[in-house]
Amino acid sequence: MTTGTLALIIATLLITQAAALLLTGYYRRWQKHKAEPGQVAPPLTAPPSSRAELLRPGGEQTWSGFREFEVQRRVYEDGDRQICSFYLAPVDGRPLPPFQPGQFLTFRLSVEGPGGGQTLTRCYSLSDRPRSDCYRVSIKRVPGSTGAEGLPPGRSSNYFHDHVEPGSRLQVKAPAGQFHLDQESDRPLVLVGGGIGITPMLSMLEHLLETGSRRETWLFYGVRNGVEMVMQPRLQQLAEQHPYFHLYSCFSQPLESDRPGIDYQHRGRVDIDLLRNTLPMAGYQFYLCGPQPMMQSLVPDLEALGIHPADIHYEAFGPASIPGKKPHAPAQQADSDIAFEVRFSKSGRRVTWQPGAGSLLELAEAEGIEVDSGCRAGSCGVCQTRLESGEVGYDTPPDADIESGHCLLCKSKPKGDLVLQL
Ligand SMILES: Cc1cc2nc3c(=O)[nH]c(=O)nc-3n(C[C@H](O)[C@H](O)[C@H](O)COP(=O)(O)OP(=O)(O)OC[C@H]3O[C@@H](n4cnc5c(N)ncnc54)[C@H](O)[C@@H]3O)c2cc1C
Ligand code: FES
Repeated sequence: MTTGTLALIIATLLITQAAALLLTGYYRRWQKHKAEPGQVAPPLTAPPSSRAELLRPGGEQTWSGFREFEVQRRVYEDGDRQICSFYLAPVDGRPLPPFQPGQFLTFRLSVEGPGGGQTLTRCYSLSDRPRSDCYRVSIKRVPGSTGAEGLPPGRSSNYFHDHVEPGSRLQVKAPAGQFHLDQESDRPLVLVGGGIGITPMLSMLEHLLETGSRRETWLFYGVRNGVEMVMQPRLQQLAEQHPYFHLYSCFSQPLESDRPGIDYQHRGRVDIDLLRNTLPMAGYQFYLCGPQPMMQSLVPDLEALGIHPADIHYEAFGPASIPGKKPHAPAQQADSDIAFEVRFSKSGRRVTWQPGAGSLLELAEAEGIEVDSGCRAGSCGVCQTRLESGEVGYDTPPDADIESGHCLLCKSKPKGDLVLQL
């Protein structure tokens, strides 16, 4: 063989190897793209920003107040088209800060109603794992009721379903909330989602599985039937792919087309007997989110079973009282002599607050006083109320900015007698 032929062979081999490397790279990127159907390309028009107030030392970016987002796409997630996911990318095109799976976004909407325009503030849980290009929320349409009560349809949820389209712009506060996965722990997990309460669980689950967590994870998902189930194919796919994840779908009123053992694992609601009979009940951390009756029975039942309260995390999407933790539960012995008078100046009511009464929001609700609330976690600012006299305290500093002379009812407790403008 001549030197020239040898050189030709070596050159051909080198070119083939380079081409193979390039093709493998493209193939992997294509596979990754396929596996992440929710991924949204960053807007091409994204202007580079130099606003330093958005930067954290670690390079992550967060924001205070409201930031403008554009809806990239929307996807119905259930057979009845009552739950719709919205994928949101920031208009400024800068990367999104990570969030804790389980947290929520707060939206400010300008909505036209029969009585004219109004501004609504509503919270929606992030339903996907953290990613730097977009957020996802999944919103259930709240219908009106026709019975004796004749309640009107939910304003925000119907606005999202009927008017928010790809290209719509929305004002959004940064992810917040204390109900989120304990990422430091490697303890096994039980996630319980009832109805639309599945959304924070989806985020936790997607995050755990994406990061290759080996934590044993059970998802108990309660709905009436398969038509109501959100993201059924995705959940079943995850259950098939991950040996540490166990999906337990519970249908209280299965349809004839729902196949036992395939579409659902349990006929009935998620209750303590189901958990006790299915789980070894050793060392689990519990995360629950669902309708009031589910929470009202499960939380005390878990405690009665000996689960430490610190291992039971729960969130309600509206006013929810849990027996044993409800506003007028008896005060603990050590606090029994603490009592302050709270006066609601507009309604002219006076009540006594004791430590067992919880937050001022819970106290007002227990008295039947109408109060606006959103997150119930000190983040959205909706429950801000004028404090005419007295002082309040917060167990943990709230995220929302509080105007001087005001307090956030959902997070505050009196430090002495006080008067609220309610
Ligand atoms: C932390 C958190 C996370 C959440 N995450 C999600 C989520 O992921 N997905 C989701 O879909 N929802 C979620 N929610 C619930 C969501 O924030 C809204 O509460 C929900 O969409 C209903 O809002 P709306 O404006 O549509 O209804 P609203 O207009 O507030 O009405 C709510 C209900 O009250 C009734 N009503 C309206 N007016 C009156 C009246 N005058 N008197 C009596 N009743 C009346 C309505 O008929 C309706 O049944 C979350 C809530 C919180 C606090
Ligand atoms: S309800 Fe959101 S801050 Fe109080």
